[in-house]
Amino acid sequence: MNPAPSAANADVASAPSSRAASECWRAAALDALRECDPIAKANAVRALHAQAAAGAPRWAPQRVLATPDGLPGRPAQPPLVEPRELQRRSMSTPQGRVVLLHALAHIEFNAINLALDAVWRFPGMPDAFYADWLGVAAEEAYHFSLLRARLADYGHAYGDFPAHNGLWEMCERTSADVLARMALVPRVLEARGLDAAPPIRARLKQAGDDESAAILDIILRDEVGHVRIGNHWFRYVCEARDLDPHAAWLALAEQYRAPRMRGPFNYEARRRAGFDDAELDTLAAQDAAEQTAPKKSGGRDAGE
Ligand SMILES: [Fe+2]
Ligand SMILES: [Fe+2]
Repeated sequence: MNPAPSAANADVASAPSSRAASECWRAAALDALRECDPIAKANAVRALHAQAAAGAPRWAPQRVLATPDGLPGRPAQPPLVEPRELQRRSMSTPQGRVVLLHALAHIEFNAINLALDAVWRFPGMPDAFYADWLGVAAEEAYHFSLLRARLADYGHAYGDFPAHNGLWEMCERTSADVLARMALVPRVLEARGLDAAPPIRARLKQAGDDESAAILDIILRDEVGHVRIGNHWFRYVCEARDLDPHAAWLALAEQYRAPRMRGPFNYEARRRAGFDDAELDTLAAQDAAEQTAPKKSGGRDAGE
């Protein structure tokens, strides 16, 4: 399972959108990942998802695709900056809410890319793995389109404010190992979104922005499913490699410098997303240790 892509038997992808999606859905997912225009990317994902839902499987799970240059496809705007350079988000003003909605749209744009990357990059997985992550990509495209439309209500567009690249950086860091990817992207970054969504939703509601709050409801509902998919495939690979999931998780979090986990946690959503009691106890213990330890660098949150 999970050989690293090698040049020897690789098939270098052609230009985005030049290949018929019917040829190989993993290759088509890579084409969508390379697409720079966010709307074209979201449309390509939805079209591929519809095609995959309707037809006989064309995942080519054993095929190794070479990593092309220029991943991920992204628009020239927004500029990517260090997280500390980003504006603070006070939701009491329309401008503050716009900055927040833009940050959320950026997260969802990245989340499309993260899910597509899981589809094309890791050979040797069951068809259901690829189908699951393409389904996630389609839901992320939906989230992005909701936020894009809401930004437009405020007279803004995706790209109007700077953003950071933390989500894609974790994607790159874990590109050589599907176990590390499952451990750290859905189970850390997307799971962080489960904690973050309810307080953001409450503040939007408090500010009278019911429409944006309703988008957060949809995102939270769907993200539980994404984390559940991540938990399922993390445990699947652990079992295939004869690893204890708890020990493997702790080792990978250390090895890949996972963001420090700080509460408050949405235990109810995390439980629905498939975290077991031992994992939630570990989370609580890490948070307690963080509260008492001196603050370290590298502990920022990067949740979806
Ligand atoms: Fe999402
Ligand atoms: Fe997600």
